[in-house]
Amino acid sequence: MSRQQGSFDLKSLSDRVAVVTGAGNNGIGWGICRHAISALGMRVAVLDLHERLVSDAAARLNDEFGNGCAIGVICDVTRPESLAAALDRIALDFPESSIGAVFANAGVIFNHTLLKSTAEEWATTLSVNVVGVVNTIQAFVPTLQAQKDDAIFCTTASVGGLVRGDGGAASYQASKHAVVALTEALSFELARKSPQVRIHVLCPCIVGTALGATSITNARVARGDVATHDIEPAKTSELLGLAQTPERHAQQVFDHIAAGNFYMVTENKPPYVDHEFPFDAKGIIRERMENMLQLDLDNSDAWVAGPNGPPSSILKGPLWQELKNRSGD
Ligand SMILES: NC(=O)c1ccc[n+]([C@@H]2O[C@H](COP(=O)([O-])OP(=O)(O)OC[C@H]3O[C@@H](n4cnc5c(N)ncnc54)[C@H](O)[C@@H]3O)[C@@H](O)[C@H]2O)c1
Repeated sequence: MSRQQGSFDLKSLSDRVAVVTGAGNNGIGWGICRHAISALGMRVAVLDLHERLVSDAAARLNDEFGNGCAIGVICDVTRPESLAAALDRIALDFPESSIGAVFANAGVIFNHTLLKSTAEEWATTLSVNVVGVVNTIQAFVPTLQAQKDDAIFCTTASVGGLVRGDGGAASYQASKHAVVALTEALSFELARKSPQVRIHVLCPCIVGTALGATSITNARVARGDVATHDIEPAKTSELLGLAQTPERHAQQVFDHIAAGNFYMVTENKPPYVDHEFPFDAKGIIRERMENMLQLDLDNSDAWVAGPNGPPSSILKGPLWQELKNRSGD
C-alpha cells in the first residue's frame, strides 16, 4: 500500500518553483520564501494582495540572493481568476522550472469573541482562510498532478485548528478547523490517483508576524478607507523573544516536509527558538482528544483569566506563563 507521506529528499526541489500565497508581509510565507531560495536553491513566486508588498518582497529577495530567483505577483486568493492569472504569470516568468511546492498560506484573524464578532469579520475570515485555500488547491493541484515529479502542496491552518474553541477568535478557529479537515480530504482524494502530490497541513504555534495588523489593514482597504498603493510591508512582533522568527520557523516547516509529517505542528521549541518555554501544542491537542473520547467538554479554563485577559483553553502553556513573567504581570 502506498502513501503520500514518507520521508522526502528536499534536494529534489532545487531549481524548481515555490509558490507562496500571503508572503508579502514579512511573516510565515516570507520566511518560507527565504528558506526555499537560500537553503534549497528554489525560485519563488511571492503572492499577496498589494503591488507594493509583492514588488518590495521580490526586490529584497533578488537583491539578497541574486537576480531572477523571485517574482512578485498580485493575487487575491478569494478570486479564482486571480489565481489562474498567477499560474499563467509563473509559467511565463519561470519557463524552465516546474512547480515543486505550493503553500496556500494567506490568512486573516479578527480577535473577537463569538458574541462580539461581526458578520463582515466572519465573511472575510471564511472567504480568505477557507475558500481562499480551496481556490488555491483548485488552481494549482491540477498542474502538480500533470507533473511526473514529486511536489508538495501545503495548506496553512494553525494549532488553533487542532484544539478546542475558546473565548478568543472564534471565527479564526472555526476557519482553521475547516482547513485541517479539507486538507485531510485532499490527501484522501489524491492518495491513489496522484501519489506524487504530497499533501501537508501546517499548524503553526507562535510565530512573530503582524497577522492581526495585516488583517485590519486589508479590511480597511476592502472598505475603501485606505488605498492599495499606500500599503507597506508590515513590521513584525517578536513577543519578547518567545516567538519563532519566520526564518527559523521555515526551517521547522521544511524539517517536517523532509520527515513526511502530514500534520506539521511547528512547536516553539529548540532548535527553532532559544528558550525552553514551549507552547505545549501536543498537550493541548491531547486534552481535546481525551475530552472527545469521554464525550465531554472540560470548560474549567473558562474560570481563569488568560494572558490577554479573556479566559483561554489554548494560550496557557509554559510560553504564555513566561510571557506573563517577562511582561511583568
Ligand atoms: N503568526 C502565527 O503565530 C500563526 C499561527 C498559526 C497560524 N498562522 C497562519 O499563518 C498564515 C500566515 O500568517 P502570518 O502570521 O505569517 O501573518 P501575515 O500577515 O504575514 O500573513 C498573512 C498574509 O495573507 C495576506 N492576505 C490576506 N488576505 C489575502 C487575500 N485575499 N489574498 C492574498 N493574500 C491575502 C496578507 O496580506 C498577509 O500578507 C495565516 O494563514 C495564519 O492564519 C499564523
